[in-house]
Amino acid sequence: MTKPVTIPVATLATMLLMLSTITLTACGAEQKPATTPAQVEKTDKVNKSDEMDATKATATTDSNQTNIGKTLYENNCQMCHGQGIAGAPKLADKPAWKHRIAKGKEALYISVLHGAGGMPARGTADDASDEDIKAAVDYMIANSQ
Ligand code: HEC
Repeated sequence: MTKPVTIPVATLATMLLMLSTITLTACGAEQKPATTPAQVEKTDKVNKSDEMDATKATATTDSNQTNIGKTLYENNCQMCHGQGIAGAPKLADKPAWKHRIAKGKEALYISVLHGAGGMPARGTADDASDEDIKAAVDYMIANSQ
């Protein structure tokens, strides 16, 4: 009773296998010429929009650095420089900044990165990059001269 059942199942499996092999081969042959030119065009478009993004990023770098500087100042520097704590020159206090700004930006960057008087190294912004700390100094200078 079981014999007539097992033979057709095996045959069916073989047929399915053959069918799927044929289908796969047919798809492979059909798709190659159709997708290749489209893919090339797509890649081209992606590259072009990448270039445009890069141009945009360069154009906005300046204002980004200003925002980074402002944010870092508010988070890490304002606590002393907002009120003049521990003898810190206050933001926008032009007389307090005049002789400091006269030393040049590089000297001020070094003071902050290494610490000066009552100011700890990096002005407490231990996790910020040198660039971001410099941006905070730039922000303070721009608002104090
Ligand atoms: C704990 C308080 C404190 C914090 C926080 C602080 N400062 Fe200062 N800062 C000072 C003091 C005090 C001075 C004056 C040091 C001196 O000349 O004796 C100073 C001086 C400076 C100067 C002038 C340095 C010079 O050579 O004249 C700059 C620029 C400056 N701070 C930037 C920053 C920046 C940027 C931050 C945040 C990343 C910051 N400070 C955080 C206390 C602080």
